[in-house]
Amino acid sequence: MQLRFLGVRKTELETALKGREIKGEDGRDVMGSRDQIDTGTQKQINEVRGFLRACDSLTVLTGAGVSAESGIPTFRDAQTGLWARYDPMELATPEAFARDPALVSRWYDERRGKCADCRPNPGHLALAQLQQRFEAAGRRFTLITQNVDRLHQQAGSRDPVELHGTLWLWRCTSCGEEREEREIPFPDHPPRCACGSIRRPGVVWFGESLPEAALAAAWQAAESCELFMSLGTSSLVEPAASLARVAANAGAKTVEINLKRTPLSTRVDISIAGATGELLPQILTET
Ligand code: APR
Ligand code: ZN
Repeated sequence: MQLRFLGVRKTELETALKGREIKGEDGRDVMGSRDQIDTGTQKQINEVRGFLRACDSLTVLTGAGVSAESGIPTFRDAQTGLWARYDPMELATPEAFARDPALVSRWYDERRGKCADCRPNPGHLALAQLQQRFEAAGRRFTLITQNVDRLHQQAGSRDPVELHGTLWLWRCTSCGEEREEREIPFPDHPPRCACGSIRRPGVVWFGESLPEAALAAAWQAAESCELFMSLGTSSLVEPAASLARVAANAGAKTVEINLKRTPLSTRVDISIAGATGELLPQILTET
């Protein structure tokens, strides 16, 4: 079983690429000159359209970059205001919650507030449309997301596989009851269950295991697709970052769209430098 090749706990890759300007293979900055990008990008868009037309099964993995154009700051963006002095890597852990549940609850509460004010962007809408087209034609489409904001569902995507849970569900730390929490802000931190214990956000923290069913579904969709697209993700967080490799090893074509180069960029068939909210609608227009 392929799963043994990686830890199923959520971990961030320690990579030399982190925090550096990443250059293209020829040493140029990937953002290069606008003209070069435009011609090259257009060619890549056409190639992706060809892949999309030719495949019977498509698996898409999304990350925080897909929601960035909706106004949701990516996890690794500099924190602002009250949170500027905290490292998100030190808030999104079971240890942080054990140490100071109210602090972690306030942080997620603020993120809930931001998400509630945001709407899906053209990238989300394009993916919902792509699913509709694939399914109407009897072709298989699986959306896997690392995002916890549920903007894919708001855009009309059906049944995305939520690898890292969602910040809309909060789970009791004693009885395990999970409840959708839409009240913003919470009156108290952290919110409490009817049994009296505190609730925690239904997201997967660093060091925690991913939900088994979601991971199994993601793995299966990666192993069995003809085309795999990795969109707006830094490809730094495992096990999600391994899905593209799993797909490629099983013979799938692979595509990445990201504003910057990632550890995946040299390993995919096509890596397009750009914003998903601009490129996905363009790719769809003639597909
Ligand atoms: N279009 C395409 N890519 C974008 C855009 C955009 N508009 N905006 C940002 N990006 C890219 C960035 O270049 C970066 O590579 O999106 C990526 C976002 O990276 P991360 O913040 O690391 O998000 P993600 O890959 O989803 O992180 C994985 O780690 O932060 C935790 O649990 C959280 O689910 C998340 C997981
Ligand atoms: Zn309870």
